[in-house]
Amino acid sequence: MTVTATSSHLANMATRAAGFQPSPVRAVFDVSMQPGMISLAGGNPYLPALPLEGIAELARGVVLERGLEALQYGSGAGTEELQALICQVMKREGISAAPENIQVTAGSQMALELVTKLFCDPGDVVIAEGPTYVGALGVFEGFQAEVAHVAMDDDGVDPEHLQQLIAGLKAAGKTIKFFYTIPNFNNPSGISLSLERRQRVVDVCRAEDVLIVEDNPYGLLAFDGAPAPALHSLDPDNVLYLGSFSKIFAPGLRVGWVVAPEDVRGRLQIASEATTICPSVLSQLIVENYISSYDWRGQIEAYSSVYASRCRATLDALAAHMPDGTHWTTPAGGFFTWVTLPEGIDTEQVLAAAIDSGVVFVPGSAFYADGGGANQLRIAFSYADEEQLSEGVRRLGEAIRGL
Ligand SMILES: Cc1ncc(COP(=O)(O)O)c(C=O)c1O
Repeated sequence: MTVTATSSHLANMATRAAGFQPSPVRAVFDVSMQPGMISLAGGNPYLPALPLEGIAELARGVVLERGLEALQYGSGAGTEELQALICQVMKREGISAAPENIQVTAGSQMALELVTKLFCDPGDVVIAEGPTYVGALGVFEGFQAEVAHVAMDDDGVDPEHLQQLIAGLKAAGKTIKFFYTIPNFNNPSGISLSLERRQRVVDVCRAEDVLIVEDNPYGLLAFDGAPAPALHSLDPDNVLYLGSFSKIFAPGLRVGWVVAPEDVRGRLQIASEATTICPSVLSQLIVENYISSYDWRGQIEAYSSVYASRCRATLDALAAHMPDGTHWTTPAGGFFTWVTLPEGIDTEQVLAAAIDSGVVFVPGSAFYADGGGANQLRIAFSYADEEQLSEGVRRLGEAIRGL
């Protein structure tokens, strides 16, 4: 028998629960499972690119050789070995951190929740790019923080606009708690903050005394060339860095982390212990073995070349099938491109027609806290293959024309 909540239970819930909404990405999950449906919706990594046999061996070794540790409760901060290995991984983006600065979490989603729990009271303001990660908006909403968006162009956030926004918010008496940013291959826009702007963004935030929360799950997934320097590498004291193994290895393990100055890291651990007691030791040991004994850099290259080819197929299909006046971003890495249709086209309406045509995506409004994005949409090219992407975009074009 299914037990359903009564209306009085719902009425009794805390104010913070009133705004809880199902994630728009999860909302289209069931639709995307329908036979014949092409999903451009979920940002799932392409796990068939992983060598499953090798990983099975590695997991077997963990249980046989370190099972009593792996299956036991562990340190609230994370295992010391993984903390040290995370520091090595981050060196690729110029970050120099000590293991004591690392708080391991169940994915960077949990990291976002912990950071917001630590910093935000109801009514506090978080500045975020417009558009931004829908999962972050859900967290900010849950802690009753207000979101102020700062627009991006093809080079990311304009530091002067950021400064003006901060000044305006302060003049209006608002308390700004942090600037949440996804500087590399942004979800959902695919845009990266240009190298020239990085130092200036960091300088503006330092001068204005605004903490930066840098969320960087895609930074190592550049199609070409070296990773950009992390904002953290430019101002370690004023940047909390959120990392994840979800996109460079596997999301099912749920291993991410925060890099924070030691006093903040200590508080994060207390908040984390209240939520999960400790991060999964089994998952951490699997990641430890993967990083120390497997060619993880080669795996990132393998992933990136799959995504680069899928991105090209998507952009070609957009050029062939989108109506005149449509624009899209040209990502240099990551999972997503962001499509802006001519004014007046509502992508929530397009979605209904697109589902009838056999393709599903996430409408742009999901990625704004202020009702923006009505004529925009996100395409994830990470999971569907080139043929499906071309056909999916063709169906999308058909749905738009049929409105
Ligand atoms: C920008 C961004 N942050 C955080 C996450 C959460 O990732 P995870 O919790 O799997 O590390 C995602 C996942 O899609 C994301 O795109």
